[in-house]
Amino acid sequence: MFEEEIIETNRNYWNEHADLWYGTTALPQYGVRFPTEDDLHLFGDISGKKMLEICCGSGHSLLYNANKGAGELWGIDLSQKQLDNASDLLMKNGYTAKLICSKMEDELNVPKKYFDYVYSIYGIGWTTDLQGTFDKIASYLKKDGTFIFSCIIP
Ligand SMILES: C[S@@+](CC[C@H](N)C(=O)[O-])C[C@H]1O[C@@H](n2cnc3c(N)ncnc32)[C@H](O)[C@@H]1O
Repeated sequence: MFEEEIIETNRNYWNEHADLWYGTTALPQYGVRFPTEDDLHLFGDISGKKMLEICCGSGHSLLYNANKGAGELWGIDLSQKQLDNASDLLMKNGYTAKLICSKMEDELNVPKKYFDYVYSIYGIGWTTDLQGTFDKIASYLKKDGTFIFSCIIP
């Protein structure tokens, strides 16, 4: 399958099935039968920090970080339906985030060298260009910024 076909197939799947996965693959969970962020504390103190989530899905990880005092919340996802769910969830809890509908393989419309944390929970494994995605993520991070991700390796 060509890259654009893969992206289109995935976009359609997530637009149609967003509600099925609502809140199921999000912090504090990193994965099935895996220690959680509440056990590992990989993020540390995120008070006031600028956070970008790649493949933010239904927004539950953004909410988790908002409740821990994150300063700025940004999320990107391929699926507008997922972003609509994320926007509703955050709004209902009194938070706002900059949510961008984009594929992670593209140069995102986000500031460079800006984020304290870029993270992704069960998202990175969907990329069609792993090295390109990692290179772009590095460009969004401040010097000494942190990248945290979990994913299924097929
Ligand atoms: C398993 S879900 C995880 C989402 C998130 N952790 C959550 O709690 O909802 C994977 C997400 O990746 C998104 N996705 C898949 N391929 C993508 C791509 N190429 N670029 C950006 N997002 C993508 C899907 O739309 C979906 O929301």
